[in-house]
Amino acid sequence: MQAELKLPQDYADKVQHPALKKWVADMAAIAKPDQVYWCNGSQEEYQLMCERLVAAGTFIRLNAEKRPNSFACFSDPSDVARVEDKTFICSRRKEDAGPTNNWMDPSEMKKTLTPLLDGCMKGRTMFVIPFCMGPLGSDISQIGIEITDSEYVVTNMRIMTRMGWPVMEQLGKDGAFVKAFHTVGAPLQPGQADAKWPCNPTVKYIVHYPEERSIVSYGSGYGGNALLGKKCFALRIASVMAREEGWLAEHMLILGAKSPQGEKTYIAAAFPSACGKTNFAMLIPPKEMKGWEITTVGDDIAWIKPGKDGKLYAINPEAGYFGVAPGTNDNTNPNAMASITANTIFTNVGITPDGDVWWEGMSKQAPAGVINWKGQVHDPNSGQPVAHPNARFTAPANQCPSLDDRWEDPAGVPISAFMFGGRRSSTVPLVYQSANWNFGVYAASTIGSEMTAAAFGELGKVRRDPFAMLPFCGYHMADYFNHWLQFGRALPNPPRIFVVNWFRKDAEGNFQWPGFGDNARVLEWVIGRVQGRTGAVESPIGWMPRYEDMNWEGINFSKEDFEAIMHVDREIWKQEVLSHDELFGRMYDKLPKEFFFMRELLLSSLWRSPEKWGMAPERI
Ligand code: GTP
Ligand code: SPV
Ligand code: MN
Repeated sequence: MQAELKLPQDYADKVQHPALKKWVADMAAIAKPDQVYWCNGSQEEYQLMCERLVAAGTFIRLNAEKRPNSFACFSDPSDVARVEDKTFICSRRKEDAGPTNNWMDPSEMKKTLTPLLDGCMKGRTMFVIPFCMGPLGSDISQIGIEITDSEYVVTNMRIMTRMGWPVMEQLGKDGAFVKAFHTVGAPLQPGQADAKWPCNPTVKYIVHYPEERSIVSYGSGYGGNALLGKKCFALRIASVMAREEGWLAEHMLILGAKSPQGEKTYIAAAFPSACGKTNFAMLIPPKEMKGWEITTVGDDIAWIKPGKDGKLYAINPEAGYFGVAPGTNDNTNPNAMASITANTIFTNVGITPDGDVWWEGMSKQAPAGVINWKGQVHDPNSGQPVAHPNARFTAPANQCPSLDDRWEDPAGVPISAFMFGGRRSSTVPLVYQSANWNFGVYAASTIGSEMTAAAFGELGKVRRDPFAMLPFCGYHMADYFNHWLQFGRALPNPPRIFVVNWFRKDAEGNFQWPGFGDNARVLEWVIGRVQGRTGAVESPIGWMPRYEDMNWEGINFSKEDFEAIMHVDREIWKQEVLSHDELFGRMYDKLPKEFFFMRELLLSSLWRSPEKWGMAPERI
């Protein structure tokens, strides 16, 4: 390696925290790296890491005129997404992990991992990354230390979290921190050449010890498997802390909406992975919705605490976006496009001959000569995509034009409503409002998404993803439902809860709703309901807008179109409610008893309802 790419002297001797020093020393003794380096989080250090990745062939520097200070890289084809079947919640008791998580006894898991971790960093550098989830100094924020042997992880963590020496100062002599150990699981023998994307193609483990507040991730270098502040800490470990301490750690975007009258409303929304959180968080309303302005607080994770005033306050624990690239363009998400013009890392996208990036949906046709995510020249006749469907960009939040001016407010922003949605080609209408908190919790628990071609499983089959948290809840899902019910009971005026579905399709398989910017029309109705000024009709599943309750300025969307996307078919909904049992049956023993009553109530009011409803002018 060139001399100038040598790591500088770090600050190990200045670290005051004996427990932290001991943990790092213990892990170094096990992993046996060539050296240990404590990251300071500076811009110079980030540049150096990028240069080292370029020298290793991992990063490809993009055209400095088109994408200044930006890099692209291709992962190993075996390492392209989170590995849910290799993700474990190792609570002491099996019943604390619940039926929807993989579980192993913590001591068994440690026995399994011991031989894997022994010497796992041979030939590599061990990086120590102090990071803070949430604004430094906020009492909602939490500190973690990630140990990793991946420079790619160091660079991504620098964008996604507040990282470096200031965190170490905050931690002081005895501050609490989450232990997050990560290795690509690919030790190097002396003289062995490194892979461009080191990982372990066959053995992967993403392990959480909730009682210990610690994480061990082995074998993958990609996204949520490796950037341990994100899903592992901010959702799986934090959800356990949140339940114990009376707050919420959620897979939610947070946005602010300013009305033409100037009132600001903050909303949190949960949609499953790759179902439109980033798009919704950065939404630009159609120009005919004069005076409406949407601002972004977060696009993936929300930590929410009750304030002394009885309201809920939310922070975005992250500092960047790890967003889905394919489908992102100047029409679907101009704010995301603007966020990635510089200082961005692209993973598994295509690279154009002029050194820029490309993915499906960026423009109609792939540019000639584009290199695909497997590093080969794209053959337009191959039927293969240029970018991997889970290709991602890593971009700093402060590059987003719609960033909310309170996004780093240590006190958080007050949440007035929750929205839940999935991909449903039928059954679920565009929007409805739950009758109350409990029915909202029930609805959120039964959110489902249809399998897309990209996921495994039966095409079109509904996979329940309660609260969009199924892969991310660090404890028993039914205990989680109970936590939500209990949480609402303690609030004097809990936020209203809404269900949305942007993905309903007609008989020919076309989306019936334009989506993207036009989702602001649904948001306007939601906010109107929260403020108590917009109309609705009551139905067996909740409150629904009539045609005249929504803003149709600047869109050709007829009453018939509205009917098509709002109507609810009684028999199909009965089937829907009955099918909730598939999920609930798995967690019967701990399911809130309220759920049984609500299910019965839903069924009996469906029984009494007309065969089909949606636009009825009267109360149904
Ligand atoms: P994670 O980062 O995986 O948690 O997901 P996310 O929820 O942030 O996903 P993202 O916003 O990146 O979702 C991208 C996918 O949703 C793309 O396929 C988009 O085309 C699609 N999408 C987003 N909004 C809409 C919409 O309003 N209508 C339709 N039809 N598709 C949408
Ligand atoms: C998700 O899958 O919901 C993500 C991407 O946000 S990852 O961070 O890789 O989990
Ligand atoms: Mn996510």
